[in-house]
Amino acid sequence: MTRMMKPTIPDRSADAQVEVELTVNGETVHRTVSVRMLLSDFLRHELGLTGTHVGCEHGVCGCCTVLIDGKPGRSCLTLAAQADGYTIRTIESVAAADGTLHPVQQAFKECHGLQCGYCTPGMVMNILGRFEEKAPLDLSDDGIRELLSGNLCRCTGYLNIIAAVRRAAELLGKTSA
Ligand code: FES
Ligand code: FES
Repeated sequence: MTRMMKPTIPDRSADAQVEVELTVNGETVHRTVSVRMLLSDFLRHELGLTGTHVGCEHGVCGCCTVLIDGKPGRSCLTLAAQADGYTIRTIESVAAADGTLHPVQQAFKECHGLQCGYCTPGMVMNILGRFEEKAPLDLSDDGIRELLSGNLCRCTGYLNIIAAVRRAAELLGKTSA
C-alpha cells in the first residue's frame, strides 16, 4: 500500500515578510507571513481552518469562498496581506457552539444538497453572504441558479442544492423580491 503524501507547502522562506492582523471567526489573529501567501493557505495552514477547501486555486470553482467583511470572496484570489485589518468568517463559525446546524446547513442536510461535500463549505458561505446582503433575493429557479453560479459542484447535479437554498430561505424567513 502506498503511503499518503503530505501536501507540500511551498518554501517561501526567502520571500519578503509582512505582519498581518485580522479577525477570523471573531478572534483577532496576528502573524508574520510571506507577502505571497494566499488567504486560503493562511486559513488552512496558519490557523488550521481546513473547512475552507481549495479546488482550482484560480478563482473558478468557489470551493474556497469565505466572507470578507460580510461579503463572499475567493480566498484563493486574496493574499493574506490584503486581508490585513479585515474580518473573515469561515465555515467553522457557522454552526452553533453546541453543534446545532445553521439553517443553511440544516437545509442542505434536509434536501440532500451534498454528496462528497467538497464544494459545500464554499456553497454555504456564498449563500450565507448573499442572504445577509440587503439586496432583494430572487428565489425563482433562475434566481437561485444565478446565486449559485460562482460555485461549482461536480456531484449533485445542482437540483438538490437549489432546493436547499429555497428551504434555507424558508427556515430563515426570507422571501423572494
Ligand atoms: Fe478558489 Fe477554486 S479554489 S475558486
Ligand atoms: Fe461533491 Fe459538490 S457535493 S463537489
